[in-house]
Amino acid sequence: MNEKPLRTVKSFVRREGRLTPGQQKALDDIWPKFSLTNDDEPIDFEQLFGRNAPVVFEIGFGNGASLAEMAKNQPGNNYLGVEVHRPGVGQLLNLIENHQLTNLRVECTDAVELLKQRIPDNSLDRVQLYFPDPWHKKRHHKRRIIQPTFVALLAKKIKQGGYLHMATDWQHYAEQMLDDLSNSAYFTNCADNDDYIPRPEYRPLTKFEQRGQKLGHGVWDLLFIRQ
Ligand SMILES: C[S@@+](CC[C@H](N)C(=O)[O-])C[C@H]1O[C@@H](n2cnc3c(N)ncnc32)[C@H](O)[C@@H]1O
Repeated sequence: MNEKPLRTVKSFVRREGRLTPGQQKALDDIWPKFSLTNDDEPIDFEQLFGRNAPVVFEIGFGNGASLAEMAKNQPGNNYLGVEVHRPGVGQLLNLIENHQLTNLRVECTDAVELLKQRIPDNSLDRVQLYFPDPWHKKRHHKRRIIQPTFVALLAKKIKQGGYLHMATDWQHYAEQMLDDLSNSAYFTNCADNDDYIPRPEYRPLTKFEQRGQKLGHGVWDLLFIRQ
C-alpha cells in the first residue's frame, strides 16, 4: 500500500500578487545586500550584522513599514524579519535603502523552517509576531502559527530572559495564544493580570492593525518572558 507523505500544515497560502517594478528592482538590486546567504548553515548573527547587539526576530512583517520604523527608532538592536510574501519583502527592501538602515536583514521563506534550520538555540532576544493570519474558521485553526509545538520551538530559540511579543485583533486567537503560552513551562506572562498588556511604545501600529481599527476591531498584545 502506498503511504501518503506526511504533510506539514502551513500557516500561510502563497498568493503571489504582482510585483511592482519598484519591488522587483529592490529584489534584484537591494536583496543581495540585506538578505541571508543561501546556505543551510546556522546564522552567525555577529557576522551577519558586523556587530554584537540584541537580536529581534519578526515573523510575517507584511509590507515591513512598522518593522522598518522600529529598526530606525532603536538603532541599538539588530533586526531580522521573515515574510513569505515577495511584494512585502520588496517593499521592506526599499524602506531599508530609503532610510539607510544598517541594522535590519530580511529573509523570504517560511519562518517555521528558518527557525528550525538556521536560527541557533538561545540566540534571540525578542520574537515579534504581529497580527499573524487569524484563520477564523474552526477547521482552519490548525493553520494558526501559534500551536504548542511552535511554542516549544520558540522556547528553544529565545534566550533565557528574552521575550515573545504577539498581537492580534481576533479575540479567539488572543485567547488561544494566552492558553498555549500559559501552558508552557518555559514562558511567564508579563501582564499584570496574567492576560494582556497595553501596546508598548516601541511597537508602531502595523498596516493590518490600522485596517482593522477602521473596522472597529479590538487589539490584544501579549508579552511573555522566556524563563
Ligand atoms: C495578517 S498579515 C500581518 C502582516 C503585518 N504583521 C501587519 O500587521 O501588517 C500576516 C503575515 O504573515 C505572513 N506569514 C504567515 N505565515 C508565515 C510564515 N510561516 N512565515 C513567514 N511569514 C508568514 C503572511 O504572508 C502575511 O503577510
